[in-house]
Amino acid sequence: MCGIVGYVGRAKAAPILLDGLRRLEYRGYDSAGLAVVNGRHELQTRKCAGRIAALAKLMVKKPVSGSFGVSHTRWATHGKVTNENAHPHFDASGKLALVHNGVIENYQTLREELISGGDTNFRSETDTEVLAHLIGKLYDESCATTVDTPQKKAHMLEAVRAALQRVIGTYGIALIHSDVPEFMIGARRGSPLVLGVGKGENFLASDVSAIVAYTRDAVYLNDFDVVAVDREKFEISSLAGETGDHQVSKVEFTAEDIKKGDYAHYMLKEIFEQPGTVRDAMRGRLSPEECTARLGGLNMTPPQLRDVGRIILTGCGTALHAGRVGEYLIEALANIPTEVEYASEFRHRNTPLTRETLVFTISQSGETADTLGALRESRRKGFRTLGICNNVASTIARESDGGVYMHAGPEIGVAATKSFTSQVVILTLIGLLFGRMRTLSTAEGSRIIESLEALPEQIETVLKLSDQIKEIAKKYADVTGMLFFGRQFNFPIALEGALKMKEITYLFAEGHPSAELKHGIIALIRPDLPSVFIAPDDGVFSKNLNNIEQVKARKGPVIALTSGNGASQLKTLANEIVTLPEAPDCVMPVLSVIPLQLLAYHLAVELRRDVDKPRNLAKSVTVE
Ligand code: AGP
Ligand code: GLU
Repeated sequence: MCGIVGYVGRAKAAPILLDGLRRLEYRGYDSAGLAVVNGRHELQTRKCAGRIAALAKLMVKKPVSGSFGVSHTRWATHGKVTNENAHPHFDASGKLALVHNGVIENYQTLREELISGGDTNFRSETDTEVLAHLIGKLYDESCATTVDTPQKKAHMLEAVRAALQRVIGTYGIALIHSDVPEFMIGARRGSPLVLGVGKGENFLASDVSAIVAYTRDAVYLNDFDVVAVDREKFEISSLAGETGDHQVSKVEFTAEDIKKGDYAHYMLKEIFEQPGTVRDAMRGRLSPEECTARLGGLNMTPPQLRDVGRIILTGCGTALHAGRVGEYLIEALANIPTEVEYASEFRHRNTPLTRETLVFTISQSGETADTLGALRESRRKGFRTLGICNNVASTIARESDGGVYMHAGPEIGVAATKSFTSQVVILTLIGLLFGRMRTLSTAEGSRIIESLEALPEQIETVLKLSDQIKEIAKKYADVTGMLFFGRQFNFPIALEGALKMKEITYLFAEGHPSAELKHGIIALIRPDLPSVFIAPDDGVFSKNLNNIEQVKARKGPVIALTSGNGASQLKTLANEIVTLPEAPDCVMPVLSVIPLQLLAYHLAVELRRDVDKPRNLAKSVTVE
């Protein structure tokens, strides 16, 4: 949620800040802004409601100069989407500029306190501005007579620490002051912040993708870290002022990896990357000799794995849907009772956990606040908590007791696609590993490995359906909504299909187990509300067929996804038939979700929606 970029160096700051913001725009796009200090110690600010393109336009009209500054793309939590509420925000003197990601929960108390102290110069409705004022006030009080720059830097650092100690809530911040040249401070608690280490220049960003074009050396800050950054050096200390060791790591991907290439949208590119990302999710993890999976990152010994008696899978949105497939998978393959919990519920409720419970958090970004909260709660209770993450350097990955990385590469489209299939593949590997330690035979293990190995090629086949699905999308472009139905392994795919549809087309959509239709949903059926059935030729095909009949009897259009002999049986019933390759039940979700990703995509394009940046959403939800 929200993107921050800061720069101190020798180059012109503004183009670097703008370029970084463009790469972070997926994190929030309500408004954008920047502040840069020029050689005459003047703070120049440009900010406006709207996209980064609007800020860029403004900058052409009113350019700024200077080689250090901070910038922000906002996902509003406090205060409307207006020019005034766009970041950066300033202190009362107008010399300090601050950008913030997160929520200052006690902002009202702090604001009243500042106002009663005589500070009436508030210009926005945001929680963020209060923090800028507080830091500015503390700095001005301590620095009144200081002229020496190193001392000003030290005072500034102290003011930031003192102010942050008073904050309840979450923050990733970057700030500059026009009196303190070539210097910026960053700090984090609950919202990600990374330091990019360059030669004669340094960066701050919410996500390395903003700065990977300039440096691949990064320090991932921890909660309660405060970093003082100038051109040549940086110093990381804790909120209490203690210095500690920090490792500079190499960023795994390059600037090339986050380009759209010839694709019209990131989402389409990411859908088409799935043969490769699914392969990468299994790379080195299959053991055909032992007919099992190897998942060393779990950091568990065989006896520990053997003793797991219950599994909780938790996450949000698409990651939660992957967890729901995982529930079917793990119970089918390993017979371990498995439950799926919304991370936001799990962290606040008292789920009974037994000694042998193992918890998995699932998150593409590894920064989702609700999922991170669930992870911390589970660990606090003393349960081994593992992560299934894509972002290697993320907070969830770092705070987990172990886990499995997805290796899917950066996912930029706000609607998650390739991360879902990677998560499902990893959950299959987990099911296989646990299954083979229990009752799954070598023959069964071997069959699952073969089906997994066949997936990349089968995904290629499914992707060839894109043109057919585009035609379907065109045909149904004026519908009022869409219903999605599936059974067993494909029930979560109905949920995921509906989520994709809602997110990027803004059409009303719901997913349900097919059989639930007759328990109420059937009342919705009418000619302008198509039902999408995920009905492969599996053990429940005939049951799905009954439900399709029920929809047709009420003049509801049916789009059916099927496989094998399913197509011939559906010929006279379904309005549209999309045929998937044949695959065993347990790997089918990896194939069946792809036509639904494509359906949402093509329909959104048809409706001229902003596919990669749908309204009101942000990729990485770092607030509760
Ligand atoms: C997916 O299309 C959504 N944008 C959203 O539901 C997402 O899956 C959810 O916010 C969880 O994100 P995470 O995987 O990064 O934790
Ligand atoms: N709470 C701040 C605001 O509403 C920051 C939100 C964000 O993370 O973008 O402006």
